[in-house]
Amino acid sequence: MSHENSVVVRPAKSLNGSVRLPGDKSISHRYAMLGAIAEGTTKLENFSTGADCASTLGCLRTLGVEWDRKDTSVTVRGRGLKLHPPNALLDCGNSGSTIRMLSGILAGQEFASELVGDDSLSRRPMARIIKPLEMMGARIESAHGARPPLRITGAKLKAIEYKLPVASAQVKTSLLFAGLYVDGITRIEEPIQTRDHGELALQAFGAQLDRRMREVSISGGQTLHAIEATVPGDISSAAFFLCAAALFPDSQLVIPGLLLNPTRARLLDFLIGLGVRITMSELQEQHGELVGTLQVQGGKLKGARVVREDAAALIDEIPVLAAIAPYTAEGIEIRDAHELRVKESDRIASVATNLRLMGAEVEEFDDGLRIPGGQKLHGASLESFGDHRIAMAFAVAALRAEGETEIKGADAAVISYPEFFETLARLTQR
Ligand code: S3P
Repeated sequence: MSHENSVVVRPAKSLNGSVRLPGDKSISHRYAMLGAIAEGTTKLENFSTGADCASTLGCLRTLGVEWDRKDTSVTVRGRGLKLHPPNALLDCGNSGSTIRMLSGILAGQEFASELVGDDSLSRRPMARIIKPLEMMGARIESAHGARPPLRITGAKLKAIEYKLPVASAQVKTSLLFAGLYVDGITRIEEPIQTRDHGELALQAFGAQLDRRMREVSISGGQTLHAIEATVPGDISSAAFFLCAAALFPDSQLVIPGLLLNPTRARLLDFLIGLGVRITMSELQEQHGELVGTLQVQGGKLKGARVVREDAAALIDEIPVLAAIAPYTAEGIEIRDAHELRVKESDRIASVATNLRLMGAEVEEFDDGLRIPGGQKLHGASLESFGDHRIAMAFAVAALRAEGETEIKGADAAVISYPEFFETLARLTQR
């Protein structure tokens, strides 16, 4: 039962069946952007169905890039490194990835452009890209507190050696893209290894990179060449079904064609540690990305701590891990996750609010949450806070609660996974 903008989720007995996920959001953004500045026509299958990746495609069109889309097949006609001056604002919608990564490309153009976003995006910090891109020679004006809109005046860029102060794959990728427009070698060092889709995508499009541990260098002026690729299924979207399946010993779930890149798959180690049985098969490499089939069986869930590197590696999955935490035996504690406060919503506050509305005990810290285990939750009327991952995480929590849960603003799921509620209903056994 659902009505305008709100979805009601009832308790379940298990999750069963097979599900193929829409293309990974992180990879779809990168392939679309690199396809735009490559030579030749890039053909992508299983492109993300989320509104965020549609924002990227929309911005590219405003920059003179021609593309066609039929369902999840996207063809991008590359223009080479030089894009066309836009005659309109570049609307990034809700997408932090679009604004941050595209800024790297715009910094190297011979024109000025302005990137805007929705209310949530307009509150998110951009100093992390403004600072290094200005060091490279671009001029970037922003709203108060280095927030969007961003007005970028491109320039012939200079090489920099830059140590990222915050672990962020979006920023790393943005600077690598800018590095294509530099005369010389741009070197980036990250404090913690973050997802490496930017590096792998650049290499897939034919760029030479020098990668060692947490350091990556790129020399400017390289020509990119179009690719044909199938985007692997999004593991951050699969996370909701993996966690839902984990809640019930009778669950049996098969997920073919899933992205299993080790910089994204920490969730699997984490769930195995909790007591979930997971097997992988049909492993293969596609354009440097590891892809395979997962088989998942629920089990008795122990407890866990998520700290330091794990907090960064699991950053998009923490909302759903927190949502299943009360149902574990020993609970879950999450620390070192300050970054959650500046995502699409303040995810620490959003999670704590919703868990408490369901009757859970939760301790909130500046950098995380402690959620005791062995709790019984009840259905409640919850908010998505306009945040796709909060809407989906609490649909999962609702499956083991007593009574019905209403999720207001559930349509936020369109940002990364429009088909989520439909697929959840198909997999859920009652
Ligand atoms: C992403 C990186 C992460 C993640 C986001 C996607 C990417 O953000 O939370 O959903 O595709 O590079 P940060 O770079 O801010 O950590």
